[in-house]
Amino acid sequence: MDTETILIVAGIAIFIVALVFKFLKKDAIVEEVKVEQKVLTKKKESTITYGKVTLFFGSQSGTANKFCNILSQEALDNDFEPSVEDLKDFKKEFFTQGDNLVILCMATHGEGDPTDNAKEFFEWIKNHQEENAFKNIRFTVFGLGNTQYEHYNAMGRQTNQHFERLGAKRVYKYGEGDDNSSLEDDFNEWKENLWTELKKIITPIDLTKQNDQSAASHHNKKKSGTAFKLVPTEAAEINFENAKNDGKKYEFLTDGYIHGTVANVKSIKELRQNNNDGSTLHMEIDLKNTNLKYKTAMNIEIFAENDPALVEKVGAHLNLDLNQRVELVVDEEFIEKFKYPFPSPISIRSILTKFCDFQGQLMKKTLKDLAKLTTNEEHKSKLEKLASAAGKKEFDSEIYQKKKCLFDLLKEYQIVPTLEQFVDLCPRLSPRLFTISSSDVKNPEIVTVTDSLVADKLEDGSIKHGICSKYLINFQNKLKNGMTGNRIRVGFKASSFILPQDSKTPIIMIGPGTGIAPFIAFCQEKEALLEKGINICPGEFTLYFGCRHQNGDYIFREELEQYVKSGIINKLYTAFSRDQGSKVYVQDLMIKNEEEIYNTFFERNGLIYICGATAMGESVVNALRKIVQKFKNIDEQEAHKFVENLEKEKRIIKELW
Ligand SMILES: Cc1cc2nc3c(=O)[nH]c(=O)nc-3n(C[C@H](O)[C@H](O)[C@H](O)COP(=O)(O)OP(=O)(O)OC[C@H]3O[C@@H](n4cnc5c(N)ncnc54)[C@H](O)[C@@H]3O)c2cc1C
Ligand SMILES: Cc1cc2nc3c(=O)[nH]c(=O)nc-3n(C[C@H](O)[C@H](O)[C@H](O)COP(=O)(O)O)c2cc1C
Ligand SMILES: *[C@@H]1O[C@H](CO)[C@@H](O)[C@H](O)[C@H]1NC(C)=O
Repeated sequence: MDTETILIVAGIAIFIVALVFKFLKKDAIVEEVKVEQKVLTKKKESTITYGKVTLFFGSQSGTANKFCNILSQEALDNDFEPSVEDLKDFKKEFFTQGDNLVILCMATHGEGDPTDNAKEFFEWIKNHQEENAFKNIRFTVFGLGNTQYEHYNAMGRQTNQHFERLGAKRVYKYGEGDDNSSLEDDFNEWKENLWTELKKIITPIDLTKQNDQSAASHHNKKKSGTAFKLVPTEAAEINFENAKNDGKKYEFLTDGYIHGTVANVKSIKELRQNNNDGSTLHMEIDLKNTNLKYKTAMNIEIFAENDPALVEKVGAHLNLDLNQRVELVVDEEFIEKFKYPFPSPISIRSILTKFCDFQGQLMKKTLKDLAKLTTNEEHKSKLEKLASAAGKKEFDSEIYQKKKCLFDLLKEYQIVPTLEQFVDLCPRLSPRLFTISSSDVKNPEIVTVTDSLVADKLEDGSIKHGICSKYLINFQNKLKNGMTGNRIRVGFKASSFILPQDSKTPIIMIGPGTGIAPFIAFCQEKEALLEKGINICPGEFTLYFGCRHQNGDYIFREELEQYVKSGIINKLYTAFSRDQGSKVYVQDLMIKNEEEIYNTFFERNGLIYICGATAMGESVVNALRKIVQKFKNIDEQEAHKFVENLEKEKRIIKELW
């Protein structure tokens, strides 16, 4: 037989075997689970390599990690050998001794600060003084930021500068993206010529000419593209309440989840006078029986879960039995670098509930991946169009503005991925951050969250809640109906809101809307310290609060009035923007009180804390610039510099989101 005949015969044989197999499996649960391997992209095997490229991410909520994964896929397609690394695990020798090609995707967090996982790395490069220490490093950087923040892309820019300063060789232009509008487009535009440029500089190695056959086979294996199977099991699901690290390497966000702690929700109540303009919930979490400790006005991470009703719908769409438990089995050849998306054995319900974000904002990359999963040519080209640069406008109006999510598109384009494909298409759910509105000095066991719910009205008139918003609404209903299951997964993080225990320092707090949260915590702390008869007590409190209506969304009204009465708050200024003809905001009140602000802040060496929406933060800082300009009799530019320095000196402290 010639080769062609062999191939045809083999093909027919495989077809028959597959048919028999499918028939045999028909009634088994296995059929439902579709253990078939996911293959989103598969590439021909190659005989050359451009060598290793290491993709580092500095990330808080996972976007920079996603970008590295996208680059990793492209690196494979371009005959590089990529590995994606969390900057938390960086090794100094890698940069100072190795001859390495690195791409860094750096998000900025806080107020121009590094993300938690990049803190140590950034401190190190910032303080590293040895000339040409990175001389054998070839590099480029992409920064992720948001123009609503004052220090736009500070981390991307500074990392890029430090690499230059340390003598690393640039192999591609620096790029950055703006999460206020065009982050993924900026990223796509930046990386357009990345691989062609790199291939111009790097000489490939021909693997067929190498004696080292193992290198060749190793390289080829890595190109086959797929990684894991979800195999049905009768074993019990793992206990998520103590799913602490079991030695496996988890994906970035999953690792955060694993390190979370479970506590009880004690109560949830509405804070607004009415719900004409929305809803703000106040949640008490009981830390008793946990080993969690917190401090006044820290940040809390809430690991929100998808709405159970929606999970049912997704399960039905995917033809999956949600109660089926599966074991995650990694293909032998990938085991070395594999990052687990979740622990297992796990039920399909838990996978969909805890680890898959199928409701959030869609990436264009996801549309491209979806296009590969449909055989309908019309759908395929529509999805590809939406994901392309040419389809930018359409993507914005059809997908982004309509808040469409992955699940919407699966329905709309009648795509039914396998469970493995679905897990791969979905980003992991990221924890939601909140500024704690309670004080440990008052009660170390109760921590409170003040959550202004996200409720978007869609074109068809229906309401789409944010993931965490819906999660808390469901919790509230459960508590109301006396249902069990009030466990919540949380973690704590340091914040920049720390109250100085110095009675001479006057404090000006600006927190309209939910931005009031940390200042309620400050008031609680001051009150508790006074009650305990502790002499070292915070000084004078001036609070600026704002909302739409005095009788509507004036949250913590009774508490604030009580704090004024008891002298915890010395001055309270409120701006009810829509209670009169012309709008009044906190920044307008500040200008009105400019003399008092100037005296308290400058003459008496006060501190200013600002919390809440980014846009408000910018307006407040602008008001401060105007006050400085007027009273110091300096020009606009000088005032700008002056206020900037005050921020550096931590006299002005902001937490904006
Ligand atoms: C340090 C810090 C402190 C914070 N403190 C507080 C606090 O004290 N109180 C508080 O209320 N909030 C706080 N936040 C905000 C909070 O973390 C959450 O972002 C907020 O509660 C919304 O979460 P969610 O899951 O309900 O909404 P999400 O589902 O995450 O939605 C968030 C946004 O994305 C949009 N969106 C969702 N899905 C899509 C889609 N498919 N397509 C397009 N757009 C979409 C929504 O319209 C919404 O604007 C803080 C944030 C940070 C970073
Ligand atoms: C609390 C917070 C603070 C931020 N601070 C800044 C900042 O100072 N400068 C900036 O350019 N972007 C800032 N950003 C925007 C993020 O860098 C941007 O959204 C990025 O895409 C996040 O990437 P990640 O998901 O990998 O963490 C901030 C975002 C948040 C939530
Ligand atoms: C952020 O985006 C909004 C809406 O797209 C826009 O109105 C605003 O001007 C942008 N802000 C900045 C600072 O670019």
